[in-house]
Amino acid sequence: MTSTPKSRSLPPLAATLLAAFALASAGQEPTPGAAPEPLKIEGVENAFRLSPNLYSGGDPRGVEALTALKKLGVRTILSVDGVEPDVEAARRLGMRYVHLPIGYDGVPREQAVRMVQAVRTLPGPIYVHCHHGIHRGPAAAAVCAMASEGWSDERAADWLRLAGTSADYRGLYESVRDFAPPTAAELEAAGAELPERSEVPALVETMVKVDERWDALKAVQKAGFKPPAGRPDVDPTAEALQLLELYREASRLPDSKARGEAFLEQTAAAEALADELYRSMAAYAKQPSPEALDRLEASFAAAGKSCKSCHASHRDR
Ligand code: HEC
Repeated sequence: MTSTPKSRSLPPLAATLLAAFALASAGQEPTPGAAPEPLKIEGVENAFRLSPNLYSGGDPRGVEALTALKKLGVRTILSVDGVEPDVEAARRLGMRYVHLPIGYDGVPREQAVRMVQAVRTLPGPIYVHCHHGIHRGPAAAAVCAMASEGWSDERAADWLRLAGTSADYRGLYESVRDFAPPTAAELEAAGAELPERSEVPALVETMVKVDERWDALKAVQKAGFKPPAGRPDVDPTAEALQLLELYREASRLPDSKARGEAFLEQTAAAEALADELYRSMAAYAKQPSPEALDRLEASFAAAGKSCKSCHASHRDR
């Protein structure tokens, strides 16, 4: 995952005011409404209130996080990542999921139209999220705000920068910059059916699992390559083996084969690095010497790099 500094050159309010002045001097009315407001919510990363009807943030993990959203008044949750939403847990709290997954390369028009349909027809406030609430979720929330809150494209771009959306995801910025609200005909063609769960491609499903294993491995690394505090169920060597198995699975998917030779080569390279991570984890567990630790640190770093390099060439554009 690309990590991005969360700071920006201007504080959000100043940027919004500047954008408003720019509009006013161009002879247009500035868009009313306050700047997005960061919120602190237990179990939810990067939460913001964009308007009384629209929120953005990370995956609400567990019932407590969902309950916190409920307390904010949220009635509809829009997920745009590949993880299967916990539809039942949301329902028990009287909220409804809409699952409209997108990639890191942009917001496809048909998903954008459905997002607007969701904002128009389902009860608000609506909480829009991806995994960490930094890249895809904010882009989807921007589309919703442009359609339902009258946001200009400058204001939407300011919001992406505030949320920390990486400039490397050019497709996300471009989808927002080029977004035009759907026509009545497009909305009609999209229909009223908004899925609570969507099928995602097999490679996305595998990547969601890769990401879970990698999150666990990052926690393992932080804990000095031991089971992380409060997670005795995490066996470091088993996690590394799982990662290796997932790459093997990925290499056999028709979806991967269809992406061509270069992709399969990168998958094989990632698999080899995961294999080395697994072996060095097992060696360190057996004999925690300084040499074994050096080898493990190096293989962990190399495995992390392989995520970024494959995404840069095959996912993010
Ligand atoms: C060999 C290439 C490759 C490697 C290595 C790789 N990925 Fe991916 N990953 C992809 C591709 C391609 C996609 C997008 C698939 C799509 O949208 O159809 C993706 C998508 C994802 C997604 C988005 C899933 C969603 O919700 O849509 C996450 C998260 C992810 N990868 C995490 C990781 C992590 C963490 C690692 C390293 C431990 C990793 N990936 C290694 C190719 C790779």
